[in-house]
Amino acid sequence: MTRLLRSRPRRAGLLLTAVACAAAAATPAVAEPTPVYRDASRPVADRVEDLLSRMSLQDKIGQMTQAEREAADPAAAAEAGIGSILSGGGSAPTPNTAESWADMYDAYQRAALNTPLGIPILYGVDAVHGHNNVHGATIFPHNIGLGAANDPELVERIGRATAEEVAGTGIDWDFAPCLCVARNDRWGRTYESFGETPERPTAMASLVTGLQGSSLDGPASVMATAKHYIGDGGTTGGEDQGNTEIDEAELRAVHLPPFKAAVERGVGSVMISFSSWNGVKMHVHDYLINDVLKGELGFTGLVVSDWQGIDKIDGEEGFTAAEVRDSINAGLDMIMVPYDYQEFMDLLRQEVEAGRVPMSRIDDANRRILTKKFELGLFENPFTDRSFTPTVGSPEHRELARQAVRESQVLLKNEGGVLPLPKDSGKIFVAGKNADDIGNQSGGWTISWQGESGPITPGTTILEGIRQAVAPGTEVTYDRDGNGIDSSYSAAIAVVGETPYAEGEGDRPEGMGLDEEDRATLAKLQESGVPVIVVMVSGRPLDIAAELPNWDALVAAWLPGTEGAGVADVLFGDHEPTGTLPMTWMVSADQQPINEGDGKSPLFPYGYGLTY
Ligand code: GLC
Repeated sequence: MTRLLRSRPRRAGLLLTAVACAAAAATPAVAEPTPVYRDASRPVADRVEDLLSRMSLQDKIGQMTQAEREAADPAAAAEAGIGSILSGGGSAPTPNTAESWADMYDAYQRAALNTPLGIPILYGVDAVHGHNNVHGATIFPHNIGLGAANDPELVERIGRATAEEVAGTGIDWDFAPCLCVARNDRWGRTYESFGETPERPTAMASLVTGLQGSSLDGPASVMATAKHYIGDGGTTGGEDQGNTEIDEAELRAVHLPPFKAAVERGVGSVMISFSSWNGVKMHVHDYLINDVLKGELGFTGLVVSDWQGIDKIDGEEGFTAAEVRDSINAGLDMIMVPYDYQEFMDLLRQEVEAGRVPMSRIDDANRRILTKKFELGLFENPFTDRSFTPTVGSPEHRELARQAVRESQVLLKNEGGVLPLPKDSGKIFVAGKNADDIGNQSGGWTISWQGESGPITPGTTILEGIRQAVAPGTEVTYDRDGNGIDSSYSAAIAVVGETPYAEGEGDRPEGMGLDEEDRATLAKLQESGVPVIVVMVSGRPLDIAAELPNWDALVAAWLPGTEGAGVADVLFGDHEPTGTLPMTWMVSADQQPINEGDGKSPLFPYGYGLTY
């Protein structure tokens, strides 16, 4: 209201004893009433209906479209009316800093808000073990290690810490947790699973609560994603994006419980699996999506495709009108296109106008998407809460990650109680390609999609942790290949295993043993006659039964992330080993799949773990 100050005309003789300021409101122009969808005091359902009533078909199709940031900058995204943006693995702004991410996010929101209806975007990333695309972020152990820790409360705290780092860069949607039940360790995504039975993935759905908080519009809350629905971990041969050939009873008993738990925790989104169930692609599985997920489980959030997931329906490159139509009609609400978004929007419009996708389906998808945008508070608080930006890679989060590393270590062999090592051991020899390599100990989905060896982000290597743990007088020698080892050393620690990979790149249809380099390093250490302690840094159990007799101790460290000191905490006894196997450990690769209760004889059974 504009106040005009007017002084009264003086009248002769009549002197106003006090100048009365007449604050007179300017005659108010007839102000537009605030649209219901912009009124935060109104119920979300009312806001959704009001907004929907103002949207064109094109607006609605835009909300169902998710594009990769590299395909659509803020102006292009706003111009096209795209409702969601993502960063695929490793897709980061330059420089790759938390502030730069926040600036990028805010630019997309600013552009979106400048459109006629001003609908904010959703921005999704794979923060699957911390905010792993961001340089300097805390990298937590991958899920297989958290499954070994078997501590749902810890996992919830990790979710909260991850949410703070994600929110500190503006991002409002996390494509996590993967609730897959990995049945065949040949699968390249075994390390994304909390366990081979539904028990631990169901319990670790607590990550959803950590990420989303008590309400989606709470401080640092981000929308979680239960993925990949359903049966991605059960494919024949452990083939990534393969075919899960089991009956419905087994699908329901083994793969459904973690999603049920996530829905009960209010998970905001579900991502569909690339895989098939008995030959039918999940991306067009009307029964499992519409009837089971949305019907039986009562999931009211949004269902998103995987990356180019609809392209893969017919097995040909690219997507067709039929693939667009069939996936949307099967219950997908948003399509992670991610590049040819205009083509997708045109085809979907064509299918709606031809009556092959009912308007009711379009409206249902929009209701689900818009409900999440309102619940996240994006209309009221569309920009980054910069108070959380300093949490990225913070000492507190790194300490939490170190605790998770400690709890995830599984002691599988300890001949003669060689562990814990005394801190004043005199001379300790450390060897192996994974001893002094942040990239190797973090695994895939770290800074880049596939991850990579080397000092890719700040952290503490396992070797650095060992150096920090020993007493001042203890000499720690490192040689990657074991050169220089001799009987003067009190013990040799060999940190071996796998180098980074993600998804199908990590499938191991052939051998699952150690590589040549590791075997040569171990042989050199064994020749010295010094006790050999093996620390296995890998995304799965490996085929090592033949070598095990030559080792005095074996610790499964999994993929610990940036806080490698947590491994030394266990090796030197500051923390008793408490981890237990989330996956059965095979005697040999030809036993795969090998799982609890299948009657096969493993090297170490599911749930096995020693302590001191
Ligand atoms: C990938 C993965 C999925 C991820 C998505 C976006 O292919 O299957 O887990 O969330 O694409 O990066």
